[in-house]
Amino acid sequence: MRTYHVTTFGCQMNEHDSERMRGMLDSLGYEEVAEREDAALILFNTCSIREAADNRFLAHLGQAKRLKSDDPTRVVGVGGCWAQSVKEEVFRRFPFVDVAFGPGQIHRLAEFLTADSIDAHGRFLMRDAGREPECAQGAQGARAEAGRGYFEFEGFAGHLPMKRAREFQAWLQISQGCNCVCSYCIVPSTRGREQSRPPGELLAEVERLAADGVLEVTLLGQNVNAYGRDLPRDERVTFAELLRAVDAIPGIRRIRYTSPHPKDIREDVIRAHAECEALCEHIHLPLQSGSSRILKAMRRTYNRERYLDRVAQIREHVPDCALTTDIIVGFPGESEEDFQATLDVVSEVAYDSAYTFVYSPRRGTEAAELPDQVPHPVKVERMERLVALVQERARERAERFVGRAMEVLVEGPSRTDPARLRGRTTHNKTVNFDGTAEPGDIVEVEITAATSMTLNGQERLLSRVG
Ligand code: SAH
Ligand code: SF4
Ligand code: F3S
Repeated sequence: MRTYHVTTFGCQMNEHDSERMRGMLDSLGYEEVAEREDAALILFNTCSIREAADNRFLAHLGQAKRLKSDDPTRVVGVGGCWAQSVKEEVFRRFPFVDVAFGPGQIHRLAEFLTADSIDAHGRFLMRDAGREPECAQGAQGARAEAGRGYFEFEGFAGHLPMKRAREFQAWLQISQGCNCVCSYCIVPSTRGREQSRPPGELLAEVERLAADGVLEVTLLGQNVNAYGRDLPRDERVTFAELLRAVDAIPGIRRIRYTSPHPKDIREDVIRAHAECEALCEHIHLPLQSGSSRILKAMRRTYNRERYLDRVAQIREHVPDCALTTDIIVGFPGESEEDFQATLDVVSEVAYDSAYTFVYSPRRGTEAAELPDQVPHPVKVERMERLVALVQERARERAERFVGRAMEVLVEGPSRTDPARLRGRTTHNKTVNFDGTAEPGDIVEVEITAATSMTLNGQERLLSRVG
């Protein structure tokens, strides 16, 4: 049996893509193993959103190099956004890498691994599509072939077989790529132009998932609100219409999505939250900065007022809706006053949680070339103040749940105490609780305490709701 191991970095889109890689490998007769050192095929699904993501991956790749020098029959594959951003350069810098592919080429992995590209010893022969193997510069012993790279967008990973991490939760890739031009962001160059999958195909997939026991689906796209705009007129539906159609599918108890862009989220989507039973009371609305001047330099195309209007609209229609966000600290030219404007928005909105990032210049992006890069110590000091405020507000917000009975989808044992259980509310709050439920159950939990990150509670007996 050929064995494989996948390490995933980055966002939910990469989690999704890795599930498709696993599904494809399983269908080719490969077996997944828990430890990288036990794998004949070592795969990485990479991210390049910040320098730290690159570095984390490169440290892991170092281990793969050592494993491969111990056993040169192993195959090392690198997929995802980092691979896409460096393309063929990967083979020059890391000659032990056999195969590299971008996010639009995941299905090509199968091509490498079909019978005639692997010899009797499990060695990878690099023969594909009638092309002769290329010779690497600086041959490495018996394995002198160069790696093969695939980087043109060819198709959605969403068509491939999937292997889900939990049987009752699934990702649904509704679009690929991004047409925005946020000046700090590498994603448009790694994932390409936006392409929506046709609604009929998506709804058929959700129906199959529901029949297969899935209770929660998370719709994925870089800018979900732009969904459908590129589809032919006779197929075109809006994102709000798609949400309503998914909500109508029996068996789907929870619908989540990520991420909407504040410039595009409209009242129809907000109303869907108020009206669709399965649509969760949570919106992730990336702020990035509270300063209109910085938002302009980021090319986010909304300003502080417009963002706050959206928040007011959400609070009007769905008063209890959890709001979460992404914030970048230390974008080029960010003054203390600009940063203060971010703190003001955080204080005013009072997010249920926020992902905070130190700005990281990315190759090929507009912002990397801007003057006035903020010195690292200033970024770090601002980050500390931001995190303290985020946590304070999140803790205050979480207090509203104490004393309430909340519907929780059980995910497994608590990470801190395996004798207890862990699950999530529709607000996407993690709850650690005492109870007897099983993963995949939906139960009522009485909330007894709250921190900025998690809730604590007790399962209500005879409360099983699903
Ligand atoms: N498409 C999604 C998410 C993009 S990446 C969206 O627009 O919401 C996730 C987050 O990473 C972004 O929201 C942003 O806050 C952060 N990010 C992106 N590029 C960055 C960079 N160069 N430095 C620091 N953070 C960055
Ligand atoms: Fe990047 Fe902006 Fe697109 Fe999000 S919307 S992926 S931040 S370019
Ligand atoms: Fe990273 Fe690509 Fe996602 S750069 S954040 S894996 S879209």
